[in-house]
Amino acid sequence: MIPIHYQFDTFRGERVHLGVCGSVAAYKALDLTRALVQLEIQTSVTLTEAATHFVTPMAFRALGATVATASLDLANPFAHLEPGALARAVAVVPASANCLAKMAHGLADDLLSTQLLATPGPILVAPAMNPRMWNAPATQANVAILQTRGVRCIGPDPGPVACGEIGYGRLAPVEELFLEILRLLAPQDLAGQRILVTLGPTREYFDPARFWSNPSTGTMGACLAVAAALRGAEVTAVHGPIALSLPRMVRTIPVTSAQEMFAAAMDLFPAMNMALCTAAVADFRPPRQAGKYHKDGQPLTLTFTPNPDILASMGKAKTAHQRLLGFAAETEGLETAACTKLGRKNADLMAANPIGGAETGFASPTNRMVVVDRTGRQETWPTLPKTEIAWRLLTWLASL
Ligand code: C5P
Repeated sequence: MIPIHYQFDTFRGERVHLGVCGSVAAYKALDLTRALVQLEIQTSVTLTEAATHFVTPMAFRALGATVATASLDLANPFAHLEPGALARAVAVVPASANCLAKMAHGLADDLLSTQLLATPGPILVAPAMNPRMWNAPATQANVAILQTRGVRCIGPDPGPVACGEIGYGRLAPVEELFLEILRLLAPQDLAGQRILVTLGPTREYFDPARFWSNPSTGTMGACLAVAAALRGAEVTAVHGPIALSLPRMVRTIPVTSAQEMFAAAMDLFPAMNMALCTAAVADFRPPRQAGKYHKDGQPLTLTFTPNPDILASMGKAKTAHQRLLGFAAETEGLETAACTKLGRKNADLMAANPIGGAETGFASPTNRMVVVDRTGRQETWPTLPKTEIAWRLLTWLASL
């Protein structure tokens, strides 16, 4: 199941071709196909002869892909030219040592290898094989050749493989491959940009067992981090405790408290082109006691101290080449809150959303927004997936 913060509708209607080679990992290409089809990406698949011993063409067809197999397709004499001419990206998942060798040396003796030779790019390969086969000098030399030609190689990952050996040979996780394919389809308009995202809640412990926090899941920030990485940016996410996964294309720095988030984010900020402050930072922190508080029937009274405001501190420190995005989660008065916070925090763009509704705010896959920028432009957006909101906000911020 592909997480919500990886589901970008913007890729609907794109065309992707998958090559599937003979490997135990071939069944994972079904999950990948399913994820692509779910996003309404037109997916065609070619299975090698060996692949059909592990998975069936019917399974891919049932998931909504168009499928070709092994050798020549008599019904379509130009099937070997189609992916290169029609697909925006080609991915070989899993890629066998044999397939990598054929690609490196231009061999074209079955449908998939012929298609790959006739594909100008972009091509991604995700190897999966026995670790000794992967480490073999011939395979390593073949992969090096492919990389110098611009083929993107993802994985293999280390761990136990089907034959019982342990080493580099496992297929990279399907979600990572899915995102790498989306990256091949995405505009690279943020290439060269260093982007910092703060996301998730912070936890303010007042004894070793208890903390003060909020229900933020980090979804909005994760959507922004992934969208920016897909569009070519170098993304660092400073995140509080979150359950959702961030992909490898995003550098992650986990923190717990607001003070830790402040220190990590402010340390990184000078080197950044943009900072996207989505974190639900606890505004106050209680004093922390070394031992656990015990019930004695009396009320517990704690005096909270204000935490540093990360966004406002960045607003003070920012230079002419830096852009700042802030959020305002409000129960009422979105327009006013957006304008006031934009000025008070010296942000370039401020997105205000209502909290408390079913389709907005914390833990929701969608949100409703009023967005204002420092030039006075203001837009009101209907309920949209957070992925779509992230995509639009990045386009807006990059234009300022
Ligand atoms: O003032 P308020 O908390 O409503 O502002 C919300 C915005 O400020 C969000 O972008 C949030 O990430 C950021 N913020 C921050 N540090 C804080 C409090 C809020 O960066 N201590």
